[in-house]
Amino acid sequence: MQRDPRPSHVLPTLGLLAGLLLAAGCNPSEPAGEGKPAANKAAKSKFTIGMSQCNLGEPWRVEMNAQIKAAAEKHPNLEVVFKDAQNDTLQQRSHVEEFVSAGVDLLIISPKEAQPLTDPVAKAVEAGIPVIVLDRRLLGDKYTCFIGANNQKIGHAAGDWIVQKLAAKVPPGQKAKVVELKGLMTSTPGQDRDRGFREAIAGKDIDVIFDADMKWLEPNARQEMESALARFNHIDCVYAHNDPGAHGAYLAAKAAGREKEMLFVGIDALPQEGVAYVQQGILDATFQYPTGGAEAIDTALKILSGQSVPKEITLGSRVFDKDTVGQGGRELN
Ligand code: FRU
Repeated sequence: MQRDPRPSHVLPTLGLLAGLLLAAGCNPSEPAGEGKPAANKAAKSKFTIGMSQCNLGEPWRVEMNAQIKAAAEKHPNLEVVFKDAQNDTLQQRSHVEEFVSAGVDLLIISPKEAQPLTDPVAKAVEAGIPVIVLDRRLLGDKYTCFIGANNQKIGHAAGDWIVQKLAAKVPPGQKAKVVELKGLMTSTPGQDRDRGFREAIAGKDIDVIFDADMKWLEPNARQEMESALARFNHIDCVYAHNDPGAHGAYLAAKAAGREKEMLFVGIDALPQEGVAYVQQGILDATFQYPTGGAEAIDTALKILSGQSVPKEITLGSRVFDKDTVGQGGRELN
């Protein structure tokens, strides 16, 4: 598992950097618009980027950090300092504050939850530090650029896929029984993946007989699914907001000898995780959720060289099921 490659000993260096910036008349607490780098930063030869990752327990987040690291390594003038909040919002708030007081040139954050991280990020922007928000949103617009795929659209596409497959599975006139295992509902992808899905199934022959917040975590999903299996003697499909959730549900169903009874649908589609599960017949479909790591570094370079960037960069998605997995999935329209 990838951990912070530059542990605490980096911070004094960054503190020194902040001191030097102050001495050079670049006051990090001076507002510079929406995190616009101060003019003299454009002339710097080396930039330090702070990357605040909310958790590294899921393969998807390990992949995000790996993409950031690989993209940054192509640019000798960039140094990325990683911090892992280990799924603890308070720790992530502290990490943001530490990056601000260390005077990093730019902050990338993939926040655990929207509301509690909004204020610390706004303070970073007020201190003149440009901020790229990756994957999960904050409240309001006090950041420089948001990068992520459209979760409502992905949820809607998953709902359409489920409606279509279940129409073929369930006899006419009967309602299909679906379990929804939600991602953390204080994070925006969970809210949007639910909203899009509910839009797609509205008025269709589908009953969501059980739903629970598994907080993006496979062990929670497995436990919730055990409850669903105990309560309902027939389930047609599990829609989980991520692939670890879908896999946890599959393991619970398999342990109960019921995995063939239902379809399993997830989101993320990492090649070594969700896509492999589809190839192995464990999941029936997964929808890609790109991490945006490489795009974050591209965008950071533009910001640091004084170019303007869009407020929002929307990444695409693909569906992988047994019909499309052999061709690298199918792009969502
Ligand atoms: C990892 C993860 C992914 C999911 C994303 C949503 O922490 O749960 O599985 O797609 O976060 O923010």
